[in-house]
Amino acid sequence: MVVGSVLVTGGTGYIGSFTALALLEADYKVVIVDNLYNSSKEVVNRIELICGKRPEFYEADITDEAALDKIFQEHPDIDNVIHFAALKAVGESGEIPLEYYRVNVGGSVSLLRSMTKHNVTNIVFSSSATVYGDATRFPNMIPIPEHCPIGPTNTYGRTKSTVESVITDHIEAQRNKARKAGKSGEQWNGALLRYFNPAGAHPSGLMGENPLGVPYNLLPLLAQVAIGKREKLLVFGDDYKSKDGTAIRDYIHVLDLAKGHLVALNYLREQHPGVKAWNLGSGRGSTVFEMIKAFSKVVGRDLPYEVVGRRQGDVLDLTANPSLANEELKWKTELTLEDACADLWKWTENNPEGYNQDPPKEFVDA
Ligand code: NAD
Ligand code: WQD
Repeated sequence: MVVGSVLVTGGTGYIGSFTALALLEADYKVVIVDNLYNSSKEVVNRIELICGKRPEFYEADITDEAALDKIFQEHPDIDNVIHFAALKAVGESGEIPLEYYRVNVGGSVSLLRSMTKHNVTNIVFSSSATVYGDATRFPNMIPIPEHCPIGPTNTYGRTKSTVESVITDHIEAQRNKARKAGKSGEQWNGALLRYFNPAGAHPSGLMGENPLGVPYNLLPLLAQVAIGKREKLLVFGDDYKSKDGTAIRDYIHVLDLAKGHLVALNYLREQHPGVKAWNLGSGRGSTVFEMIKAFSKVVGRDLPYEVVGRRQGDVLDLTANPSLANEELKWKTELTLEDACADLWKWTENNPEGYNQDPPKEFVDA
């Protein structure tokens, strides 16, 4: 039995692929649209290997409204969108801001326009904790609640907060329009999911993060050190006001994050709340040194690192207050940092070339 149909933009990417899997496992039909800019089509095979169901895949660009129209026309049953497709490199976003606004903001506008034409009225959006900027500037805002004023400090973050506004304005306009026409106005709904630091891989070792080019994030870099692709990890600053001097982040297992999308979508479909933002994080902060220790433990040896200066734009502490998602969505993280490290290491060992290789033999023969 199919419970609903979802268009997943960016569904071959890291978080999108895990969410597509979670949706299929929950009996949703899944259609993916991705231009493969930062992902591989092989992920579709891996999803099928894990759950026995295959998402439908379209190679298309979200800025191409006609291509989106065609997908909705071919799948009139789609009644929801989960929107991951975006450019996400913080440093690059400052170098080519127009490209970031074109894809992240322009692509979201095309998507909303196409959804509106085809009467698809539920959208779950990948926002980011980065919209808060440096929350330590406010007293009593760590861990960060959703009502913390937003104030992104880089172009990428500003594209995310802009899309939050675009979605909010559009949904409010659609609801007002429906009310004026004498309808309930409950039809359009949106979830703005502000993720903290996604981490980990599938425990099978079949799916994980596959960054093309040089990774930016801590855990993929640590994995490269562990597998011998990188000599050492550079620790960006040990002069923060934390217990060991390194910066604090809230790392969340990607399987928990994927479930967060499923519960948020179900909440939109059942509660019709209009637009709401939810933090998806564990509520637990870990320092860079703690992460090195945790990952070294699963690898079984100390991983080399060197402390260097702070990275521009980094902040001391980004830890979520996830109470709202805990209470309203009945969602909380279940997996630990240790799980994320162990699963990442299994994925890295099994797939040193990411998706640019066949699945590990035992899975193909199984
Ligand atoms: P990802 O790069 O693995 O996935 C994004 C996907 O979007 C890729 O498959 C890429 O090919 C696709 N894409 C990019 N531009 C496109 C376009 N114009 N048309 C169609 N597809 C396009 O990234 P991810 O880590 O899975 O992130 C998913 C979403 O979550 C993004 O919106 C990102 O900004 C957001 N996010 C990520 C993190 C993180 O640390 N990974 C944290 C918070 C928010
Ligand atoms: C984590 C910690 C670094 C690399 C970024 C984006 C954010 C969101 C998630 C999309 C920090 C330290 C890192 C290294 C290090 N993405 N570090 N050496 O910066 O918290 O968040 O990804 O929305 O927008 O900004 O994540 O993994 O890069 O860094 O010491 O080589 O690890 O300084 O304290 P970050 P990260």
